[in-house]
Amino acid sequence: MDFAKLASKYKTPLYIYDFDYISAQFNSLKEAFHARKSLICYAVKANSNLSVLKLLGRLGAGCDCVSIGEIKRALFAGIAKYKIIFSGVGKDDSEIEFALRSDILMINIESEAELKRVEKIAEILNKTARISIRVNPNVDAKTHPYISTGLKKNKFGVDVDTAKKLYIYCKNSPFLEPVGIHCHIGSQILDIAAYSEAAAITAELLRNLKAIEIDIKFFDAGGGLGIRYKDEITIKPYDFAQAVLANLSGTDVTIVCEPGRFLVGNSGYLLTKVLYEKKNGVKRFVIVDAAMNDLIRPSLYDAYHEIEAVGKSDGAALADVVGPICESGDFLAQDIMLPPLENGDLLVVKSAGAYGFSMSGNYNSRPRAAEVAIEGGKDRLIRDRERFEDLIRLEKEYL
Ligand code: LLP
Repeated sequence: MDFAKLASKYKTPLYIYDFDYISAQFNSLKEAFHARKSLICYAVKANSNLSVLKLLGRLGAGCDCVSIGEIKRALFAGIAKYKIIFSGVGKDDSEIEFALRSDILMINIESEAELKRVEKIAEILNKTARISIRVNPNVDAKTHPYISTGLKKNKFGVDVDTAKKLYIYCKNSPFLEPVGIHCHIGSQILDIAAYSEAAAITAELLRNLKAIEIDIKFFDAGGGLGIRYKDEITIKPYDFAQAVLANLSGTDVTIVCEPGRFLVGNSGYLLTKVLYEKKNGVKRFVIVDAAMNDLIRPSLYDAYHEIEAVGKSDGAALADVVGPICESGDFLAQDIMLPPLENGDLLVVKSAGAYGFSMSGNYNSRPRAAEVAIEGGKDRLIRDRERFEDLIRLEKEYL
């Protein structure tokens, strides 16, 4: 990738996504499930750019959405309504109504109270809500505590016994149709045993439901497949598929999974320009034009993103890469080796395609970066850099 050319054409900070990589990742996962009916519902939250959604939609993906905004994005990008799932612990009435009117594949229920709310709204609309129930299997995904979701202490889903009760309730309601079962235990998962354990618990419930004539059609194994940021040993799509499928022999369910990071994480680069170098005593700082508002993962989770100096390698020494924001927590990397740098040099922050732009913000009144796609060797702008006018557009007349 010619980062220098891209920086001079689109300026920095700049998000760049390799669309061919995204396609290859999607195809490898789809292939892993080739022996069964499967639906890959891309977790829109990882990177919700419409062009990314469109690309995945063309490949056959559905979408896992957690807000009305994400459902609207998916529909806008041409994702078929019958491939859209609506998840999340806190859906409000207007969101539930929109989902029911849009006739999406299923609403993923996360509590008894929510199930009753969906039933009520379906009744008012005189519709039958297709639902799945998110099972919290109390399995440790062994990942960062902020992105672990399958333990009792996490706010997500309901335990197996409650799930069974809710399915029976659905069976007796004219406004609820249970079509799916769902389990998502966390993100950046590297431990295959966690998937096997969660799938075994969910599959057992699936069989118990069948025995009482509740016939579930979609088995959603969640997302969470980890990627390599540094030296992680990741789960291969084939092994992930086997961990799920091994529990489902003799069933006729369509396998659903909801990867986000796996599809887009390593497709993305955040390109940033060096403003200055400085030293406070012995501590060396490389100050760049991207900041925690552009990529919050290092500040929020202490996440590691590899950083490379474009076209430079000699004489590396320890440095922190920091942004211009007025917080000591504003860093992209700490204590990494970098060559001597000066104003105008470029750094590329890797593995930034997932939870990069989608978690970005405007803190310090910083406009968000532009986004560019590279496909078949050609680059194109897929989101303009924000301007000052975008930042103040919604503010009312001031005194
Ligand atoms: N399905 C559900 C219900 C989810 O909550 C998530 C992610 C996914 C699928 C997709 O997970 P993935 O395949 O991308 O791991 N901001 C954090 C990650 C938060 C993940 C939230 N839920 C990060 O930057 O690491």
